[in-house]
Amino acid sequence: MYKIAFLAGDGIGPEVMAEAGKVLKTVEKKFGFKFDFHEGLAGGAAIDAYGVPLPESTVKLCEDCDAILFGAVGGPKWDALSSQLRPEKAILGLRKHFGLYANLRPAVLFPPLVGASPIKQEIIGNLDLLIVRELTGGLYFGTPKGREETGGVVRAFDTMVYTEEEIKRVAHIAFKAAQNRKKRVTSVDKANVLATSRLWREVVERIAKEYPDVELSHMYVDNCSMQLVVNPGQFDVILTENTFGDILSDESAVLTGSIGMLPSVSLGDKKPYLYEPTHGSAPDIAGTGRANPIACILSAAMMLEYSFGASEASNAVKQAVTRALDEGYRTSDIKTGAGKVVSTTEMGDVIVNFI
Ligand code: IPM
Ligand code: MG
Repeated sequence: MYKIAFLAGDGIGPEVMAEAGKVLKTVEKKFGFKFDFHEGLAGGAAIDAYGVPLPESTVKLCEDCDAILFGAVGGPKWDALSSQLRPEKAILGLRKHFGLYANLRPAVLFPPLVGASPIKQEIIGNLDLLIVRELTGGLYFGTPKGREETGGVVRAFDTMVYTEEEIKRVAHIAFKAAQNRKKRVTSVDKANVLATSRLWREVVERIAKEYPDVELSHMYVDNCSMQLVVNPGQFDVILTENTFGDILSDESAVLTGSIGMLPSVSLGDKKPYLYEPTHGSAPDIAGTGRANPIACILSAAMMLEYSFGASEASNAVKQAVTRALDEGYRTSDIKTGAGKVVSTTEMGDVIVNFI
């Protein structure tokens, strides 16, 4: 029996989470698991109910679970709030609280979606890369951070800071992941300008010696963002710090046709790990039935694999998604080549049927 914290959040969060829930219930029946779902509030939904984006009760609920499935947070209703009260604090708070320092974001192009990619078919090839993003350090969490006014001059500041240990532990995750893939790590930094990047490069090079079967190369982040568009097939594992990873992972996501396709897991040294679609809450389409549930469903598949060691069930879910796409089912974000454009719940039903 596994306990799963179910934090749907805002916008399309609850809609895509409902489909991932259906998928997990099907897995229960077909593969003989027992999942116990514990729903909690996070983001704008929690602000409305408790006045804070990440209530203590939600943190407690997650502490008591084996894994966390997270939808998406945010929306125009809460945009004017101060930084401590913004919905995004929910996800940042969970990452920090549970020490989830490594964020794995696989970007895989499903062959039937080649036409949905904004990149020409001859360039996109068969894209299959994994971004390993450092998640609890860098500009996001570095101190001092703030805003002040002296003599009528307003200044604001964030601090980019990394310790050797923070770099080491995420580097190990990237090299281990590469060992199960094409055995190549591209470490992305800005070592021509930033001191943190020079330390990053030095530490990554040292860790690489422990993985002689993995080939390491370095790339500046500006070049990497260009290479992702001109020759994305060159990448296997991209290892990078928090802010660079945030930017490059959206770019990689859309190469696959839609950001609605990309799952993720955030790992630490102990459970619970957190699983979430890479996309946001998409308030503009919330409630219209147009959200793509695949990223959230694939996040549930990652949970089966990484938290419960259930690779067979995980593969069954992934294959069901592949089959739905092969047979022409599309949500409106990936319409190209569609046999049949379906709603969020219909896509969930099709995938459930194929498991
Ligand atoms: C992501 C998101 C978050 C981030 C936001 C919602 C705080 O963009 O997971 O990529 O910047 O990490
Ligand atoms: Mg992001």
